[in-house]
Amino acid sequence: MELVRATEAAAIGASSWVGRGRKEIADGAAVDAMRAFLGTVAFDGTVVIGEGEKDHAPMLFNGERVGTGDGPACDIAVDPIDGTSLTATGRAGALSVIAVSDRGSMYDPSAVFYMDKLAAGPEGRGVVSLEQSVGDNIRELARALGKHPSDLRVAVLDRPRHEGLVDEIRTAGAGTRLLSDGDVGGGIDAARHGSPIDLCLGIGGTPEGIITACAIKALGGVLQGRLAPRDEAEAKKATDAGHDLTRILDLDDLVAGDNTYFVATGVTGGDLLRGVERTSRVIRTESIVLRSASGTLRRISAEHLPEKW
Ligand code: FBP
Repeated sequence: MELVRATEAAAIGASSWVGRGRKEIADGAAVDAMRAFLGTVAFDGTVVIGEGEKDHAPMLFNGERVGTGDGPACDIAVDPIDGTSLTATGRAGALSVIAVSDRGSMYDPSAVFYMDKLAAGPEGRGVVSLEQSVGDNIRELARALGKHPSDLRVAVLDRPRHEGLVDEIRTAGAGTRLLSDGDVGGGIDAARHGSPIDLCLGIGGTPEGIITACAIKALGGVLQGRLAPRDEAEAKKATDAGHDLTRILDLDDLVAGDNTYFVATGVTGGDLLRGVERTSRVIRTESIVLRSASGTLRRISAEHLPEKW
């Protein structure tokens, strides 16, 4: 629960920059605020997924130790803003996110930046898979959900690389929810109860896949990934490092064990969370906290006094 203060702080920090076209500044504000709050949390965290290597990222770099140093030894993945462009343009769906698991349990995403992903809710377990065709996944999931394929909504990042995928989804009779960014939110929406999304497909960031895995462990859903190198050089680097590019990575490959925490605060409002709202008196935030050991999803609404920020 302490971690949510860090995503709230990051979301509030970024919120002054919503719609102002300055994504680096918005991200910097979120990073600074998140880091300051993480320093107060009683754990011994190592950033496994951060803002990049130390030379390029002065803060929250991969390998940085965060927390007070007391308490459990953990891997931590941070995405102070998932959806920097959404924030800069003022579009829906930007989140500030932290995921935590036991030390050594998170997959090392450094080999390949992109991964082909599939996310669904608990009904999709043993039903959908990256091994099957898109059409089969849609038909099987529709049957498991007791829906007609035309009632299924599939979230996909709106990218030229997904033109064929979008055709396959529509040919199978389902509809798409095209995301301009933010497949962490898309994956969680596919897995959580009561969202308008049933499935999330397509190629997105590998780090975002691992962060999403921490959330989906708590939701009891499905997440699979397969590394998707951009070119021959990246593919060679990955195979030289011992990665099998044909292997389908399941939830336990992406984050081992059953002790994951995931927190997110809305920066701009979307299906999952409301964005930061400012009134003359208070700053309002909405967050979720997910814990895999108990399978709990908590929603936290907070009102912060502007003068205390
Ligand atoms: P950023 O906030 O870092 O820009 O990431 C947003 C995002 O949409 C992720 O959610 C997604 O996994 C990734 O970018 C997709 O990458 P690309 O924009 O290169 O297709």
